[in-house]
Order: sequence, then C-alpha cells, then structure tokens
Amino acid sequence: MKSERGNFGSQLGAVLASAGSAVGLGNIWRFPTEVGKGGGAAFILIYLAAIFLLAMPVMVSEFVIGRSSRSNAIGAFQRLAPGKPWVVAGIMGVVGGFHVLSFYSVVAGWTLHYTVQAFLGQLQGVHSVVHGQFTTDYEASFKGFVSDSWLPIAYLTVFMLMTHFVVSRGIERGIEYFSKLMMPMLLVIIVVLVGFSMTLPGTADGLRFLLKPDLSKVTPSVVLSAMGQAFFSLSVGLGCLITYASYFSQDTRLVPSARNVCIIDTFVAVLSGFIIFPTVFSVGIAPDAGPGLVFITLPNVFSMLAGEMSLAGYVFALLFYVLLLLAALTSSISMHEICTAFVGEHFRLSRRAAASVVTVICLVLGSFCSLSFGPWKGVTVFGYGFFDLFDMMVTKFLMPIGGFLITVFVGWRMERKLVEQQLTGGGALSARTLRLLLVLIRWVAPVGIVVIFLNELFL
Ligand code: ALA
Repeated sequence: MKSERGNFGSQLGAVLASAGSAVGLGNIWRFPTEVGKGGGAAFILIYLAAIFLLAMPVMVSEFVIGRSSRSNAIGAFQRLAPGKPWVVAGIMGVVGGFHVLSFYSVVAGWTLHYTVQAFLGQLQGVHSVVHGQFTTDYEASFKGFVSDSWLPIAYLTVFMLMTHFVVSRGIERGIEYFSKLMMPMLLVIIVVLVGFSMTLPGTADGLRFLLKPDLSKVTPSVVLSAMGQAFFSLSVGLGCLITYASYFSQDTRLVPSARNVCIIDTFVAVLSGFIIFPTVFSVGIAPDAGPGLVFITLPNVFSMLAGEMSLAGYVFALLFYVLLLLAALTSSISMHEICTAFVGEHFRLSRRAAASVVTVICLVLGSFCSLSFGPWKGVTVFGYGFFDLFDMMVTKFLMPIGGFLITVFVGWRMERKLVEQQLTGGGALSARTLRLLLVLIRWVAPVGIVVIFLNELFL
C-alpha cells in the first residue's frame, strides 16, 4: 500500500516543527560550553554570523528542494535531477538520519533517566545508588549508569517508543500536533528557569563567564567551531528539512520561516547559557563541558540547592531535565521522519509499518552505541567505539558534505526560475533580499562549509 503524504496544516505548525528539529541537546549543553570556551560575547557574535550567513542559506535551500519535489530526502533528488549523481546527497542524509537517531537516543535515554531521578527526588538527596550502593559521587553514579548493560538500553527503548508514537501518527496529527504542544512548553520552561537562575547568588559571575568578550580566545579554530555548532544546531545538511518542507503548503513562506526557526534556535541556545552558568556559579563549582556538565555538575548543583531551598531546588531540577527531554524529543522526531518518509515511499509501506522498521533498526544500532560505554568498550571500528563512530561520521562528514551539495544543487544546478518562485512565494520577497540570498546560497555557504570540513578533517 502506498503511504499517503500528509501536509502541515498551518505555517505556525511548519515553523514550530522545524524549530523543534533545530532546538535540541546541542543547544542546551553544547552551546553554553562552546561560548564559555570560545570568548563569551565574541563567540556569540561569530555564531550569529555563522547562523545567518551560512546555516540559514542551507536551511532555505533544503526548504526549496523539499517543497518543489514533495518527496523524501532521496526521492527529492531523483525527482529534480533524474538519473544524476545528486541523489548521493539524499542517500547520505538518510544514512545520517539513521545514525543520528541511534546515538542521539542514547543521550536522550540518559536524559529520561535523570528526569525520572529528578521526579523521584533522587538527584536532590545526599546520595544516589550505584550498583546497589549509596554514593554521593555524581561522577561515579553517572559512569555506573551509562556503563550498565541493560538500564540505559531500557531508557533508550522508552525514548525511541515515544519518538515512534509521534511519527507513526503522521504529519498533522503527530509531528505538527506534538510540536505545537511541546515547543511552547519548552519556551515557557526556559523563561521560568532563566527567571529562577537570575535570583541565585553569584548570577553576575556566571553571566560574566558567559558573556565577557574575550578577544584573545578568538582563534581561527574558534571561528570554525562556531560554524560547526551553527550547522549542528540547526540540523542542516542531512535532508531533515527537505523532508519537512515536502509537507509545507504552497502558502508557507520559506524565507521568513527559516528566519524564525533561526531566531527561536538562537534564543533557546543563549538562554540556556543564562540558566546554566549562573546556577553553576551560585554554588561555586567550576563549569565542566559536554555530558559532564549536564549529568555530573548539574546534579551536584541541584543537590546543593536542595539543601538551601528544598522545594524550589526540586522544581528547578525537574523542570531542567523536562526541558532537555522535550528538546531531545522534538529533534529525534525529525531524524526519525527523514528515515520513515524514505522507507515508506521507497518500499511503498504504510506510515505505521515504515516507522516500525526505522524504530527497530535504530533500537539495534542505538543499543550498540549504548553498549560502547559499557561491556563493548573495547569493540572498535577504525579505532572508535560505536557511539563515537556514529557521532563522528555524521558531524564530521555527512553533515558538511551534505550541506555543501545541497547549496551547490540549489545555487547552481536547479532551474533558476523554480528556485526564485519558491523563494519569493509569489512576489512576497523584495528583489534585493532575493539577490542577497542567492549570493549566500551560491557562494558564501558552500565556501564556508568547505572551510569547516577541511578544518575538521585536517586540524
Ligand atoms: N539540532 C539538534 C540539536 O541541536 C540535532 O541537538
């Protein structure tokens, strides 16, 4: 049976779903630490330039490909350039989608575990339980949990089933409905948490750490990490937004939609820094980077806050992990959808059957990634465990190469009239803006991506 293609019912739904794809774990823990490391406000300015000059043109290009082809990431290239090798960009995107969903769900599973712990008040107490023993050491607790054979896989499975549930309900009843529910919740929680963290003692030190423009830290490699963060954060280069745009109606204005997604994504990233650093500095702990920040440092901080303000500390911890979980879920849904749309349309399966195939494959691959923190630590491919291998493959190779091919395809290969028609949305875009966009798509973005790629590869 051929699956019916759905459509987003409204422009708001289309923007919120795309913003959900962008806002994810990358915004909440990766962005603040990159800012701290990369010169505070100076990094933020470079990041903003990377978002609007490089990543947004890729997003707009994905929108153009998706809406003009009305097909999944692979079918889109087959339809717009039949028999030509451009389809490789789509294949890389779908392969990337399977891999991101697999390793991303491992971290999302950890987030779910910490949400449950926060709910049960176990992050708050003076102890946690590792292998049946009480400990106050959050690092041991985290390491004990992630290296367990089954528990992280159980959480990963629950998270994947939540993603599956939304995707299998379809575009309007699933992805759009839940994005309209979850994105406003996420934005409200973020504002509440910022308000709370601003009342803590030491806020000024946290903000100073985050925002002090330190030009001495701005090296070429920091400029390149700002660009890398921008691409990852907006989920561009994998065809995720090709897939979403294939469900946009003709009325959806592509350029304002892309601009709004970029604004929401940046807003969440910057405000996450306003939550995390004042909170960490309020108890006098040195901020850590990456997973350590969210799963080791923050539980410590929450536990200390609980000593001083038990109910507020409890609510704060719980809301923080709920926020992280919502962000992870809206992103994983979009990764699942890249794969489900392809499997359904290519193999002519119903949405439910296609989504089940994707869920099962990603559960297996995700379990491999999870085991690479525990019993399979020694199992490596090209010297990498599964988790690191998948992460590296996507962020270092598939995303930049995909982004490059997508902008070159729209800028140089697609028929100019079709591109202009899609971009102007019936004349709603000024000729000057259109010219500027075309320069960004044809020149600025592809050159920028090549620079990032070479940096990732050789530096
Ligand atoms: N764009 C998603 C994130 O930031 C993948 O986590």
